[in-house]
Amino acid sequence: MKILMKNCLIWLSIWIFCGAAMAEPFVQGGAIGSQTEDGFNALGPVVEQPIEFPHNTHAGQMGINCMYCHTYARRSAVSGIPRLDKCMGCHNLIESVKDKPRIKKLFEYWAKKEPIPWKKVHDLPDFVRFNHERHIQRFYFKEDRPVREVCGYCHGDIASMTTARRVKALSMGWCVSCHQKEHLESVSTTKTGNGPNDCWQCHK
Ligand code: HEC
Ligand code: HEC
Ligand code: HEC
Ligand code: HEC
Ligand code: HEC
Repeated sequence: MKILMKNCLIWLSIWIFCGAAMAEPFVQGGAIGSQTEDGFNALGPVVEQPIEFPHNTHAGQMGINCMYCHTYARRSAVSGIPRLDKCMGCHNLIESVKDKPRIKKLFEYWAKKEPIPWKKVHDLPDFVRFNHERHIQRFYFKEDRPVREVCGYCHGDIASMTTARRVKALSMGWCVSCHQKEHLESVSTTKTGNGPNDCWQCHK
């Protein structure tokens, strides 16, 4: 914490000193070299998952709502990954793919009563405070935007991927640049407002 506070002070002075002079004072993405579509650095690595889950068939072709599986996004900080019994609720009844290798694996986890050990794809440092609920409430419920678009602001078009991949920088400069934009308060008004830009709102 001490180190963070010290860093914060250094940051704050750098920010005050040259913030106005630079177009993107906060850009920090990792030095991976590739560029995301909005020009920020750092495309996430491909994460090898225990089962290659096809978002493109489920959320794309079948059009299952993202929040059917990621049920907590609208009401808590985390979105959550669905439990195995949610997969089995369908796959117990689907004969057409029962013999496919990935579905056999699914049944093996089910038989062993073991959760699938999905690996994290998006992972902010622990000193950052992030909350799905507020963003989903604002953009999906109040502004009435389509769910795929709303999740896409921060995750890209997952419905066209198999397993999820990080395509947005999620760096401080990237978060802040969206907070500085004007966003409609709701679909039934022309009033706009920003996201918070105080350090303490995003940092513990
Ligand atoms: C709403 C029903 C439903 C749910 C929930 C569901 N699936 Fe599926 N899934 C399907 C259907 C239908 C197909 C077959 C699509 C096709 O015919 O190509 C499928 C296909 C798949 C495939 C591709 C199989 C292959 O090789 O062709 C995988 C892997 C898979 N599901 C994994 C999962 C996992 C893991 C979960 C839970 C996180 C899950 N599914 C939840 C309906 C569902
Ligand atoms: C404003 C940006 C933003 C929006 C909008 C957003 N997410 Fe996220 N999401 C994040 C960030 C940042 C993380 C990493 C959080 C962390 O590491 O603490 C994350 C993590 C996740 C995770 C991993 C588990 C978790 O909750 O930490 C899932 C699943 C997820 N998001 C799904 C969704 C879905 C589904 C939607 C749309 C309903 C959505 N997200 C909308 C930024 C966003
Ligand atoms: C049938 C269930 C299902 C549906 C529908 C679904 N997902 Fe997922 N999602 C999963 C599973 C299982 C994982 C874990 C495997 C992976 O990381 O790809 C996952 C992972 C993710 C992650 C990465 C989590 C992390 O660790 O950072 C994001 C982001 C995400 N989903 C967003 C979405 C969005 C956006 C949609 C709608 C377009 C969607 N999901 C629809 C089941 C689903
Ligand atoms: C698409 C634009 C957008 C992006 C990208 C975005 N935010 Fe936000 N954020 C907003 C808006 C708008 C609000 C105000 C929501 C409200 O109160 O209605 C907000 C609110 C917040 C809040 C205050 C809500 C609370 O829970 O106290 C925090 C903290 C926050 N964002 C953190 C982040 C972080 C961290 C990132 C980057 C990982 C991020 N945001 C990315 C638009 C965005
Ligand atoms: C909108 C959210 C948001 C706001 C506002 C914000 N930060 Fe951050 N900050 C982040 C995120 C996200 C990261 C993590 C970036 C990453 O992992 O690359 C971060 C990282 C940092 C770091 C670590 C830098 C490093 O190199 O690891 C420091 C220090 C920091 N912020 C200080 C501040 C200070 C001081 C302010 C106020 C002037 C501030 N932040 C305002 C989201 C925010």
